[in-house]
Amino acid sequence: MTPQNTDRRKLLSAALLAPAGSLAAGTAAAAPRGQDLNMPLLDALKNRHSPMDVTSAPVESGLLSQILWAACGENRKDTHKRTAPSSRNSQDITVYAVRQDGVWVYEPGKHAVAAVIPDDLRAAVAARQTKFAGAPLFLLLVTDRTKVSDPVSGGIDAGLVAQNVCLACVSLGLAPRPRTTMNREEISAKLKLPETQVPVLNIVIGREKTA
Ligand SMILES: Cc1cc2nc3c(=O)[nH]c(=O)nc-3n(C[C@H](O)[C@H](O)[C@H](O)COP(=O)(O)O)c2cc1C
Repeated sequence: MTPQNTDRRKLLSAALLAPAGSLAAGTAAAAPRGQDLNMPLLDALKNRHSPMDVTSAPVESGLLSQILWAACGENRKDTHKRTAPSSRNSQDITVYAVRQDGVWVYEPGKHAVAAVIPDDLRAAVAARQTKFAGAPLFLLLVTDRTKVSDPVSGGIDAGLVAQNVCLACVSLGLAPRPRTTMNREEISAKLKLPETQVPVLNIVIGREKTA
């Protein structure tokens, strides 16, 4: 990582993400009313649906922080286990945040993000569903095949992370759509992913566009 990226990462850690522990302890309640993870699970389940389209309105950093923690943040510091289960605790899913200003990788142990590239990869993630290319945020879930015994386990692990993300988004007043559609080759090339790192799912996140 270049010194410039290191500085950027520090900035983002401070500005973009809060400590996971404080979120778990409920200080996220300081977020605007209705914009925290305290929605009853029953209501989140009732309201979950995949939007047909989302607006380009940005997803605030405080919300992104909570979504990332819900996705696969550490919820047990002693064992470093996470909010999402994984096959044999393989923890094979890496979550990337894809925004107009670049791509960031989530580091659950630090509850921080690190800058990966400053490029806008949203069109590659939207792929043939071009209407999503202007969405403010995608989370890209990549499985590490060196950590799981078979591709099915990687897909299941990604699905579990994705459902955490979907329910967190609903709780935060956001609309999530999980998708397998994406331009995997372009994404892998841009992120310089080795062959063993496979993009499995992405989730488009924004405010639902109504009519
Ligand atoms: C594994 C998986 C892959 C999906 N891939 C796409 C996709 O590529 N494009 C898309 O628009 N929606 C995709 N979806 C969303 C589904 O179309 C959607 O969940 C389904 O129509 C049910 O609608 P609901 O989520 O509103 O209940 C996918 C969902 C899952 C679970």
